[in-house]
Amino acid sequence: MKRQPRSSPRSAKPLRTVSIIGTGSYVPEKIVTNADLSRMVDTSDDWITTRTGIKERRIAAKDENTSDMATRAALKAIEQAKISPREINLILVATATPDMLFPATACFVQKKIGATNAACLDISAACAGFLFGIEIAQQFITSHTHDTVLVIGAEKLTSITNWTDRNTCVLFGDGAGAAVLRHRGSSHGVISTHIGSDGQYTDILFMPGGGSRCPITRDNVDLNLNTIHMTGKEVYKQAVTAMMDASKKALEQAGLSIHDIACVIPHQANLRIIEAIADRLRIPLERFYVNLDRYGNTSAAAVAIALDEANRSGRIKPGDYILMVVFGGGLTWASTILEW
Ligand code: ACO
Repeated sequence: MKRQPRSSPRSAKPLRTVSIIGTGSYVPEKIVTNADLSRMVDTSDDWITTRTGIKERRIAAKDENTSDMATRAALKAIEQAKISPREINLILVATATPDMLFPATACFVQKKIGATNAACLDISAACAGFLFGIEIAQQFITSHTHDTVLVIGAEKLTSITNWTDRNTCVLFGDGAGAAVLRHRGSSHGVISTHIGSDGQYTDILFMPGGGSRCPITRDNVDLNLNTIHMTGKEVYKQAVTAMMDASKKALEQAGLSIHDIACVIPHQANLRIIEAIADRLRIPLERFYVNLDRYGNTSAAAVAIALDEANRSGRIKPGDYILMVVFGGGLTWASTILEW
């Protein structure tokens, strides 16, 4: 799909195309299996596998922070991109589990990788954050504001998991994924992006404590207000609708049909959600990249890790059209189509 570049009102220069020139990911060493969880709460491998598709997840060490995982993923992406960290103009870290409320986790990453010329900020869009980051990066690069942007999705979800709640503790894991974006000649990378939100649903997936509305107190911690709260069934329903709509919007904008897509990289929350989308889009499940059986739901890191794995394993090849589609708390949703 070759389109003429439009003119940018900001710079009066033609808008630039944006490519992903490097990807990286990192997951912690420690594996917790469904069998391990069944010794902690009233659950079973059979229940978790049938309802979610998850078999195991990775858990970060106590002293391993979100920024540490983000840094490891970023360094791999930078190495693959063959750039110096000093060439990075902007670092975006999508996370719901920042090292601290402030400063931004992106600033910690900046220090650790030596990206001394970058501006840094975090993106709060829950599981959809990495693709929000791709859209923001694209806007800055196409408009000639920045040349090189590092986008990271990183989570230590197990730091906000209620390990006594079987409804949620079986779902989540830790990890990070990263991508370096830059204008690269005339080749097309990011073809279309779409982001959206619906604040009507702030109460179906959230962490009530830890912000200014409900600061951390001993009582609040005793009530587990510093952990993930979720109405699973409602999230499930909204997820399918949001991901379907977002997929259609990105395809429409790109002028592509779902049958042009070589690989769909969806949010890795639940295999049943992915199956429902495959069914509704009328494409085989094999067209989807799925790794949630190994990592569970790593929120903002999930598609970023999956993209890196698909890239490094040769699952996606130059010239392939790739659809990434996500949803998360907020609600938020996003989709991106890439020509690899
Ligand atoms: N083990 C055994 N039983 C369980 C477990 C468990 N781990 N968890 C719940 N159950 C029980 C429930 O208590 C309930 O029992 P009851 O009928 O006696 O009350 C029964 O299983 C059925 O529970 P449901 O909630 O109806 O199960 P459902 O089929 O909806 O599956 C699930 C639950 C997996 C959470 C599903 O709703 C889902 O995947 N929702 C979307 C979740 C999601 O994607 N969240 C993340 C999105 S964004 C982000 O990552 C931040």
